[in-house]
Amino acid sequence: MKNTLLALLLTLPLAAQPVDIDKLMSQMTVAEKFGQIQQYSGFGFTTGPTAAAEDAKQKELIRAGKVGSILNCVGAKVTNELQREAVQHSRLKIPILFGFDVIHGHRTVFPSPLGESASFDPKGCEETAAVAAKESAAQGIRWTFAPMVDIARDARWGRIVEGSGEDPYLGCALASARVRGFQRGGKYAACAKHWVAYGAAEAGRDYNTVDVSERTLREIYFPPFKACVDADVMTFMTSFNEVSGLPSTANRFVLTDVLRNEWKFKGLVVSDYEAVDELRHHGLAADGAAAALDSLKAGLDMEMVSEHIAKNGPALLAAKKITMAEVDQAVRRILLIKQKLGLFDNPFTAEEPEQKVLFDPAHRALARRSAARSLVLLKNDQKVLPIARTLSNIAVVGPLGNNQEDIIGPWHGDGKKDEAISLLTGLRNKFPQAKVTFVAGCDINSDKPIDRAALTQTLAGADMIIVAVGESELMSGEAKSRSHIGLPGQQEALVKMVHESGKPYVVTLIHGRPLALGWLAEKCPTLLECWFPGSEGGNAIADVLVGEVNPGAKLPVSFPRNVGQCPIYYNHKNTGRPADLRDSYVSNYMDVPNSPQFSFGYGLSYTTFKINEVSLSRNSLSPKDSLTVSASVQNTGSLAGDEVVQLYIRDKVASVTRPVRELKGFERVSLEPGQKRQVTFQLGPKELGFYDRSMQWAVEPGEFEVFVGNSSLAEKAASFTVR
Ligand code: BGC
Repeated sequence: MKNTLLALLLTLPLAAQPVDIDKLMSQMTVAEKFGQIQQYSGFGFTTGPTAAAEDAKQKELIRAGKVGSILNCVGAKVTNELQREAVQHSRLKIPILFGFDVIHGHRTVFPSPLGESASFDPKGCEETAAVAAKESAAQGIRWTFAPMVDIARDARWGRIVEGSGEDPYLGCALASARVRGFQRGGKYAACAKHWVAYGAAEAGRDYNTVDVSERTLREIYFPPFKACVDADVMTFMTSFNEVSGLPSTANRFVLTDVLRNEWKFKGLVVSDYEAVDELRHHGLAADGAAAALDSLKAGLDMEMVSEHIAKNGPALLAAKKITMAEVDQAVRRILLIKQKLGLFDNPFTAEEPEQKVLFDPAHRALARRSAARSLVLLKNDQKVLPIARTLSNIAVVGPLGNNQEDIIGPWHGDGKKDEAISLLTGLRNKFPQAKVTFVAGCDINSDKPIDRAALTQTLAGADMIIVAVGESELMSGEAKSRSHIGLPGQQEALVKMVHESGKPYVVTLIHGRPLALGWLAEKCPTLLECWFPGSEGGNAIADVLVGEVNPGAKLPVSFPRNVGQCPIYYNHKNTGRPADLRDSYVSNYMDVPNSPQFSFGYGLSYTTFKINEVSLSRNSLSPKDSLTVSASVQNTGSLAGDEVVQLYIRDKVASVTRPVRELKGFERVSLEPGQKRQVTFQLGPKELGFYDRSMQWAVEPGEFEVFVGNSSLAEKAASFTVR
């Protein structure tokens, strides 16, 4: 009773009057203004012999009004405790904004973002983001550093796991859906990151140099960020990398010219972790004062973790190197976000509901659904899938088979590994009557020899083998670039042994980045791509294995044949010497085809579909007009299932070179056996335009080809002319 009352009191509004930001700012000292610009990490979580002294120091900083925001401080109790210091004991009582990396769920972990993107299901992505916001808000968090909307074309880059893959059109749809989900209700802020072109790191090495043209920025890397602005995202985060000579964190072109002046973004921009300090390592700033000056002048509002702006700001002001107006602009943006989130009125988090919200059964059901909807059937040559419910002896083989550690993937928020459902558990749940045995056989990533004896013994009585191989969660994510992107360790050899046993088997792949699957792609008859499927991963995979859920997802990224093909993406240019021009001296490799192993947009089903009857509402139009493309999709098999109908275009001849095809529409359709539906897509100036020679958005006259199908390999279906 007492606790309930306290929880209620904590959530009651503090101020009767809405805060007047201008008035508040007029009362702020210079130190308090720079305090708002500062974001610290991990307050309230210090351990070790000096913890008490550290805690006292942190509280003192808060009371002095020197803490605008804190990241990595999670929990209603601890955030309330720190918040009390701010709103009850600091002079101006400005609340703290607590941020955290709520990337793909919080306590309930959803599939890794790249995996979830394979669902081609914006509505689904919106729902998982909304639940992630709800769970983390119950722990005092009001700001997630997500969605990560970096286009990534290079499987070597570990952070490819965090985004929505290689395509700007899909990237825009999912970016805005995720922003809408996180910000649903208006009391929680999303953050579009990493602004910008972080995914273009040379050689796929994290944090590496980026040098791309303004055209590629505008056509490939900018659009998902613009989609976030259009969805009213409240915040942006700068990227660590330089963009053509200027690190983003000190890049006025991206932070001010584009973001503020062109796109009219009104929210706040935070640096990435110590990215202001890293301006020194970039060789752009000689010291912290110069780093502070460069980033403030470029348009940064808040500094994450390093303290150069807070420490040097007052002296820079006194020396007239920055103006009070520049400082005020950043402070105002920060305070406005706090106001928008209702923090001045309601800065605390009710402590009791926290436990009820986290890992709610409804959230777990959503996690299971979204994971199952993100599984991509890569191969099913012998129709081994779906497996029969009558199986009596199933062997689960591989280091990811009985694994709760890695199945939830990197950046798993407050997700608990021991709450995750392993594949073994998922199968035991699904086959309560059957014998389901397990052998790891080898490690994920070591040279330790395969345990042949244990493997042989486990396989002996099995009537079906489910292999689970891939990466550990620590092999994909930040600072997890790889130059070998095949299956690590002895896992391929393990799969070969299973293959040689002659028994029916299925390979499930659990990992972050696209892998070069080599021998597996050639020889294994059955491959199911599972990504890092999250808390309910084992149940979701089992749902798909037995056909309770018919796989309908598609690859949001190309799977290369080998690492030498990276970066690889379907929307490439034709070049002056395309590979199909003639036999030699063309743009190809001597030792591998140009095509990926598995293409963008590809994925099979247990049923079959026919997509045809493509028609256009008109065959010619003016640059200002639109046309409608319609097609029919029919389930021609005997099971209900989903197909993702995809529309691509090609602008045949233009004033600058155009990609060989570009995705401009998709729809995931669920159909009963025999059922047929009509899908329609609009093509107008937004879809048909591009940046012309003078970098102006234009639709140019000429012929456009239209491709409609179920992957980026869709056949040409029609063409039209812009006159
Ligand atoms: C990452 C960001 C993340 C931040 C805070 C950085 O290292 O690049 O994506 O939001 O840390 O955890």
